[in-house]
Amino acid sequence: MCAMAVFWLFLFAFSLLQIFRYTAASSWKPATTPPLPILPLPSASQLKWQQREIIMFHHFGVNTFTDSEWGTGHEDPAIFNPTALNANQWVDAAVEAGVSLMILTAKHHDGFCLWPSKYTDHSVISSPWKDGKGDVVREFVDAASKRGVDVGLYLSPWDRHEKRYGHEIEYNEYYLGQLQELLNRNYKAQSISFSDAGLDVRWVGNEKGYAGRTCWSTINRTLITIGGNMEDYLNKGDPRGTDWLPAECDVSIRTGWFWHKNQTAKPLSHLLNIFYKSVGRNCVLLLNVPPNTMGLLSANDVLRLREFREAIDTIFTVNYAEGSNIKASSQRGTNSDEFGTEKVVDDDHLWSYWAPGDESNDQHWIEFVGKGKILKFNVVRIQEAIGLGQRIKQHEVYADGKLIAKSTTIGYKRLHRLDEGVIYAHRVRIVIKESGGLPLISSIGLHFDPFWHPK
Ligand SMILES: *[C@@H]1O[C@H](CO)[C@@H](O)[C@H](O)[C@H]1NC(C)=O
Ligand SMILES: *[C@@H]1O[C@H](CO)[C@@H](O)[C@H](O)[C@H]1NC(C)=O
Repeated sequence: MCAMAVFWLFLFAFSLLQIFRYTAASSWKPATTPPLPILPLPSASQLKWQQREIIMFHHFGVNTFTDSEWGTGHEDPAIFNPTALNANQWVDAAVEAGVSLMILTAKHHDGFCLWPSKYTDHSVISSPWKDGKGDVVREFVDAASKRGVDVGLYLSPWDRHEKRYGHEIEYNEYYLGQLQELLNRNYKAQSISFSDAGLDVRWVGNEKGYAGRTCWSTINRTLITIGGNMEDYLNKGDPRGTDWLPAECDVSIRTGWFWHKNQTAKPLSHLLNIFYKSVGRNCVLLLNVPPNTMGLLSANDVLRLREFREAIDTIFTVNYAEGSNIKASSQRGTNSDEFGTEKVVDDDHLWSYWAPGDESNDQHWIEFVGKGKILKFNVVRIQEAIGLGQRIKQHEVYADGKLIAKSTTIGYKRLHRLDEGVIYAHRVRIVIKESGGLPLISSIGLHFDPFWHPK
C-alpha cells in the first residue's frame, strides 16, 4: 500500500512536470531582430584598434644621439651606442599604462636602420652597440610578445641616406625589400601603414593630439591627395564618406618626437586634455614616449605615464548612471532583454545597445533619474554601437531641464568634460537631435573627474 502511494505520487509529480514544460514551451517568443547596419562599417581589426584607445610610439635612432628631430642622412652610425638598452623596461611601462600596442621607428627619415638590414650597412651593424651584432627591432618584438603586447613597426618611406631615393623603381624595390625583411624576421609584428589616408586608419591632421569636435570615422579616401591641404577634412571626417577610416591622434609626451636632454614630460593636466580631445572625440591616441641615449624610457616619463593611467582609472571606474532609473522615448521590441535602456550601463560597449523603436520620432532621448540620490558628475560619456555604422549628427545633454552640453558626432566614444564644473542633478537626459537612421547607444557614463578645475 505504501509502495502504491509512492507510485501514484510519482506519477502525479511527473504529469505536473509535463504540464509545466508544455506551458513553458508555449510561451516561447521569437527574439526581436536587430536593426540593419548603415554603411560603411568598420572591419574587425578596425574595431579592435578603436578599443585600444591609447597606443604607444617610440622614436629612437641616430637623432637620439645628435639631439635633433630631423636627421640629415649623413650621421655616422658610430654615434649610435645606447649604454643600457632594455626593451623590457619600455614594455613594462606600456603595460602599466594600459597600452596593448607599441610601435617602434625601425627606420626614420634619416635612413638609419635599427635592425641589421641585408640591403644596407647604414644600420646597427655599423655601430659600436653590441659590437655591431645588436638588433633593436628584435629585442623590442621579443620583449613585447613576452608580455602579450602587440607591436607595430614604422618604416619611413622618405629616406635621406639611401642613394636610390628619388629613383622611383629602384627605391620602391629597396623599400619593399626592407618591409618584407622586417615582417619575415619579426613574424609577430603587424605592418602598420600610417599616412594621411592609410589602409586602416587616417592621420588626424595635426600633431597636437586633437581631433575635431565633429569627428566622423568615415571619409572619401579618393579626395585625399598628398600635400593637398587636407588637415581640416582629416580632422573632421566626412558624414557622407564612403570609406571607414577612423582617425589616429599622434602626439609626443614631450615637445619633440626624439629624446632631448633639455625636454621633460607634459604635465598630467595637459595629457588629460589630449585624452579628452582624442579618445573623447572618437579617435585613438598614439602617444610617443622616446627612449633616451641609455636606451631606456626616462624615469620621469614612466612616472607621468603611470599618473596618466591612474587618473583615467580614477575618473572612469565609477559610473554614477549605474543604479539609477533609466527611461527612454521608446524601445525596439517588447522584451527589454534585447534593446532595452539597461544596455547602456552594461560592460559591453560594442554589441549591446539601446535601440529606440519609433522610427517616425526624430527626437529620441534617454533619461537617468537618481534613485533617492543626487547625480554628481562633471564628465558625460556617450558611446555609439559603431559596429552598425556611425549615425549620430547632433546631440544635447540636459541636467534637470538645463542644457549642459551640446555637440555633433559621438562615434565610438564621446566625452564631454563640463566647462561649468560639477553638476548636481536629479535627472539627466540625453537627446539625439539628428541621426542618420536610428541612433544606437552602447554605453553612457556620468563620471567625476577630480583633476578638472575649469577657470
Ligand atoms: C563623398 O562621397 C559621397 C558619395 O559619392 C558624396 O555624396 C559626398 O559628397 C562626398 N564628399 C565630399 C566632401 O565630396
Ligand atoms: C633644447 O634643445 C634643442 C635641441 O638641441 C634646442 O633646439 C632648444 O633650443 C633647446 N631648448 C632650450 C630651452 O634650451
